[in-house]
Amino acid sequence: MKKSTKQQFFTKNLLVWFETNDRPLPWKGEKNPYYIWLSEIILQQTRVEQGLPYFEKFKAAFPTVFDLANAPSDKVMKLWEGLGYYSRARNLHFTAKFIAEELNGVFPDTHNAILGLKGVGPYTAAAIASFAFGLPHAVVDGNVFRVLSRVFGIKTPIDTTQGKKEFNQLAADLLAKKIPAIYNQAIMDFGATQCTPANPNCAICPMQKKCTAFGDKLIDILPVKSKKIKKRDRFFNYLVFKRADTIILNKRSQKDIWLNLYDFPLVETTALLDEPALTKHNDFQQIIGTTTYSIRKASKPFKQLLTHQKIVAVFWEIELKAELLTNESDFFEVKQKNINNFAFPKIVDLYFKDKSLYLELF
Ligand code: ADE
Repeated sequence: MKKSTKQQFFTKNLLVWFETNDRPLPWKGEKNPYYIWLSEIILQQTRVEQGLPYFEKFKAAFPTVFDLANAPSDKVMKLWEGLGYYSRARNLHFTAKFIAEELNGVFPDTHNAILGLKGVGPYTAAAIASFAFGLPHAVVDGNVFRVLSRVFGIKTPIDTTQGKKEFNQLAADLLAKKIPAIYNQAIMDFGATQCTPANPNCAICPMQKKCTAFGDKLIDILPVKSKKIKKRDRFFNYLVFKRADTIILNKRSQKDIWLNLYDFPLVETTALLDEPALTKHNDFQQIIGTTTYSIRKASKPFKQLLTHQKIVAVFWEIELKAELLTNESDFFEVKQKNINNFAFPKIVDLYFKDKSLYLELF
């Protein structure tokens, strides 16, 4: 469809703005689709500053898709540690194996085939297709919703089918189809640095003259969301069992958060517990069996917010007087000095850091 006058204004001013506001980032101008894919997976739900060192680490550790495909899962998870949303790392590894084994290491070069890769949604597919292959697909993510809803004054909630349809259509109309890579990079950077969620500096914005949100004082209202995400509260009582120079870790193998990461034997409850309540709890009894133990300390509660859950964890430091006899195949004993080899969820790392005794736990 032909662009309206306002649409022409938007695209032109965005590209002019980008000429002097282009952020120098290591994946810009990159043509190797494997590196582009790597950067885009890392940048999903992640700020550029946080993702940057991970991109460099992954490139150095796995220079080709074959290196990533052949790596052990623990190594991939360890390199991802701290970045969150760990399904990204699992899908990254899965897709690397798929490309190496099923596609002879050749990255797919059509939008549909890229979209078919595990872990690649519409945003990432449009980014890869445009950056690596110059294909005319517009990126649409939270940044783009914000920019378009403000400049064009769109009040349709972004988390509705109707909203998604409307924003996708507008984004496709606005795309500079001959230079999709430059346009997509420009709108990403514009959303990240100029049209920021809070306190955007509208005084220097090239869209100001025609920005509906600026004219109608709607900057803090747009974009509109129909519902707030409700978070589920979960309480984790971690049992940090120590005997001589070893501790017991748990490999998370169930369909739950943090799959394939490591933590400790866990008693999950619906509220925080005191010591008598913990030791009476069925799951605690089940884990400890007949082993003699002594509870040495309970940590302060640590908190971690996930998209749909709020985790509160207390770490119970427990000395075992004998070997823990358990049927639980995910528990295993490691030397304390070797725990650096495992990838832990952020909340466990926070506990380690707080003790600042990564090597000597008690
Ligand atoms: N966020 C996601 N992809 C990005 C990219 N290529 N540049 C900047 N921010 C991004």
